[in-house]
Amino acid sequence: MATTTLGIIMNGITGRMGYRQHLVRSILAIRQQGGVVLSDGSRVQVDPILVGRNAEKVAEIAQRHGVARWTTDLGEALANAEDTIYFDAQLTSVREESILAAIAAGKHVYTEKPISEGVGGALRLARAATEAGVKNGVVHDKLYLPGLLKLKRLIDSGYFGRILSVRGEFGYWVFEGDWQPAQRPSWNYRAEDGGGIMTDMFCHWNYVIENLFGRIEAVTAKAVTHIPERWDEQGRRYDATADDAAYGIFEVEGGVIVQLISSWAVRVHRDELVEFQVDGTEGSAVAGLFNCVAQHRSTTPKPVWNPDLPETQRYRDQWQAVPDNGTFDNGFKAQWEEFLRYVVGDGEHTYDFLAGARGVRLAEAGLASSAKGQRIALEEIAL
Ligand SMILES: NC(=O)c1ccc[n+]([C@@H]2O[C@H](COP(=O)([O-])OP(=O)(O)OC[C@H]3O[C@@H](n4cnc5c(N)ncnc54)[C@H](O)[C@@H]3O)[C@@H](O)[C@H]2O)c1
Repeated sequence: MATTTLGIIMNGITGRMGYRQHLVRSILAIRQQGGVVLSDGSRVQVDPILVGRNAEKVAEIAQRHGVARWTTDLGEALANAEDTIYFDAQLTSVREESILAAIAAGKHVYTEKPISEGVGGALRLARAATEAGVKNGVVHDKLYLPGLLKLKRLIDSGYFGRILSVRGEFGYWVFEGDWQPAQRPSWNYRAEDGGGIMTDMFCHWNYVIENLFGRIEAVTAKAVTHIPERWDEQGRRYDATADDAAYGIFEVEGGVIVQLISSWAVRVHRDELVEFQVDGTEGSAVAGLFNCVAQHRSTTPKPVWNPDLPETQRYRDQWQAVPDNGTFDNGFKAQWEEFLRYVVGDGEHTYDFLAGARGVRLAEAGLASSAKGQRIALEEIAL
């Protein structure tokens, strides 16, 4: 069967996400496996060109992974007609300009979230891509996590009956950087560099909620900076000007209430770094990155509140594991494969710039809710 090759301009591959998840775990893994198999049995192979500001770093990565093509000049890369896809995992604050240049050059675009720093910019990108007729997609990685795929399976089977509420927590302790180095880049903690956990995580929560539970109709949120000073990659003290915790209540069409805590200032007493509990009339489930457990109405125990007696029930043992029933690939890679098939006209990929704009809009509404101390109603947005 024939193999076609797609040239992919990859920008931001020296970064944490760009390098590990997108280059190594996705594009190089796809190249290694001989490309993506299409429904007619033919294959699409990938041929990346790496773009970055620091020639030494980019050249070193290219050499380490046997990538023949790299450059520090985005304009030059965009000028090559053979490279039909532009990918962006740069810092959020510099993304919009690069994507606009890629659209102007007629490239299909796939990007990390948030697609832009504000909803105005996000919609500008969505409109530009639509007008140019280029295919566009935004990373929706959490939907491809095994735990969430199993949760989706439960939802699709009707397991929950009527879903009542969702309660979730994402987070862990991110070291301040003084006596132990921080495990996340320092820009995340500076508002002026596009940081902030609400901007970061509400983009994810928007697509998780709308794809699993329904459209978000209103948000009430509080963004807080619990840790006011941190130390950067060079060991210099800086003021943490961005929020490191985001508390949100999301009202979803049909009456589902979703409450999510996102925090880089909590210590983990959970089985996984993200967990969602879904309660419905017929059953409940708790899903994390990998695992999902469920408890049906018929097997629900009857706890009785009695402060005089020590707890005798082992509540965690009363849940049943939802089986894998298959193998799960890396989520970033799975979405890349879907996007590549979509680019060559083989299947759909619905997570487009407009979906990305809804994510940015939720973050903006969350910040507005926090600043004003108000519930913010969300209208549907269109191009
Ligand atoms: N999908 C997810 O789960 C997820 C997780 C973390 C981060 N992200 C997103 O990925 C993006 C990158 O985050 P990261 O954690 O990898 O950050 P990072 O700081 O590790 O990497 C940032 C990249 O952008 C480049 N860059 C930095 N400043 C630049 C500038 N002024 N001009 C051009 N390039 C510049 C860097 O060289 C690097 O390649 C962000 O938009 C972030 O929101 C997504």
